[in-house]
Order: sequence, then structure tokens, then C-alpha cells
Amino acid sequence: MTKILVIHGPNLDLLGKRQPEIYGSFTLDEINKRMKKIAQEEKIEIEFLQSNHEGEIVDAIGEAKNKFSVLLINPAAYTHTSVAIRDAISASGLPCVEVHLSNIYAREEFRHTSLIAPVARGQICGFGIDSYLLGLRAAINLAKARGA
Ligand code: DQA
Repeated sequence: MTKILVIHGPNLDLLGKRQPEIYGSFTLDEINKRMKKIAQEEKIEIEFLQSNHEGEIVDAIGEAKNKFSVLLINPAAYTHTSVAIRDAISASGLPCVEVHLSNIYAREEFRHTSLIAPVARGQICGFGIDSYLLGLRAAINLAKARGA
């Protein structure tokens, strides 16, 4: 059965309270509920992890290899710094969709580089909660294309 792992990186647990002018007013729980609804309609399984710890995210990606069909990740600040998360995605061999709430290319220069993008199938950014919902659609289609 198609199973998608959604990973939310550091500080995304603060959504709703954190710079709503940049990240919107949805909480992480609301975003997850919206994705869960799509997953139910599409009859696929979905699991969520939020972590503020790089190693925990690396471990989760490593364990995902035999359990999930596709990864959907908002690596948050680790987007711009984490060779370890990038390597874990490569090592897993799983197709990966990268999403961001904000348009990282319209913000500070240090956010313009994603270390994750080259190992992702694609990136969606700048659409707030819709980045996740569009990303989930892409992840479902990737899973279907794999026959997983
Ligand atoms: C973010 C963008 C990152 O630059 C930032 O560090 C985040 C959130 C986004 O979803 O827009 O924490 O990934």
C-alpha cells in the first residue's frame, strides 16, 4: 500500500505563532489534518514527524527505506545547512518532494541555497499551506508511478 512519510523540520512546531506574516496562520496540526483528508480520499497511508533535531530526522529517513514509498519534507532551516539530511535522502533511494511555506528565493540570501533540492524530485515553495497540499499531490503521483 502507498505510504507517505511527511517530515517537518525545526521550529515548524511553532507554526501559527511564528512570524505569521511569513509562514501564515495555520498550525502544524491544521496542515497535517488537511493532508490526512487528502490521504483518506486517495486511500493512501500517511505518517507525520516533526523534529527539531537533525540526527532524529536522519534516523527517520534511514528507517523509512523499507516502510514508505515516498518522502515529503520541509527541512526548514536544515534546508540550507544539512549535508547529513541530503545524504540520508540519497541513501534511502526514496523519491523525495521538498516543500517550503515561504518563497525561499525571495528572502535572505542564505535561504536561496537548498542542499536538499538536488536530491529531491522537485521543490514547491512560496504557497503557504498549499505548498504542502500540492507537494502531497506530487508525492502521491510519484508513488503511483513507482507502483508503490
Ligand atoms: C521554511 C524556510 C526556511 O528558510 C526556514 O528556515 C524555515 C521554514 C519554509 O517553510 O518556508 O524554518 O522551510
